[in-house]
Amino acid sequence: VDRPRPLVAGNWKMNGLKSSAKVLGEIQAGYTPGLKAKVDLAVCPPATLLGMFALMAVGSRIAVGGQDCHAKELGAYTGDLSAEMLADAGATYVLVGHSERRQYHGEKDKDVCDKALAAHRAGLTAIVCIGETREEREAGRTLAVVKKQLRGSVPADSTAQNLVIAYEPVWAIGTGLTPTTADVAEVHGVIREELRRLVGKAEYAKVRILYGGSVKPSNAAELMAVENVDGALVGGASLVASDFLAIAGGY
Ligand code: G3P
Repeated sequence: VDRPRPLVAGNWKMNGLKSSAKVLGEIQAGYTPGLKAKVDLAVCPPATLLGMFALMAVGSRIAVGGQDCHAKELGAYTGDLSAEMLADAGATYVLVGHSERRQYHGEKDKDVCDKALAAHRAGLTAIVCIGETREEREAGRTLAVVKKQLRGSVPADSTAQNLVIAYEPVWAIGTGLTPTTADVAEVHGVIREELRRLVGKAEYAKVRILYGGSVKPSNAAELMAVENVDGALVGGASLVASDFLAIAGGY
């Protein structure tokens, strides 16, 4: 089977002001034809910048994504944003179930699944985030946790087109720690097998499975060479254009 076209996505989290348009401009300038030929890029800025970034990115092949969405299309949900609103602002992706949402907003697999469904309803590709905590890893429960999260968070209408999985071990996020390549290979292999059951034989090999957690220019090539790693979800390093581009260049 051909490997899916890799995707390197930047999750800016709660960082970025209007002045950060400069960073997007630098990313655009550095997304050379050579890089475009190898890898897709997406930037997920805070929602305040989404519309501006989407307009800036027109014609550049850089996709823009939201960081979260509400499961409903509209209504009395003060402070929330629907997937339709993100799509209207120019997003084509949305992160759902990031561990920071699971941790600080109590999101459960069912909530994540509902949000991914909402993303599909709005025509967005859902980047469904999963990953074990340090305690879970130390207890030897990584594979069980990841399987359970996948089964609970991936909606039944998923295809290789509207679903991306991001495996982010919680203990690797923002810590500088990364799993060994053998560990990444094991988890991504299990995710691929689980996807066979969840999205079906025809599609599962084409679903992109990203690795996230302390991806940097210095470790990107090694991580992305691992079997079943089809790109990266980058936090801190995505705020610096040269780092983000160097990571994408790791392919
Ligand atoms: O979603 C990406 C993120 O959680 C990883 O963050 O800063 O470790 O690359 P970072």
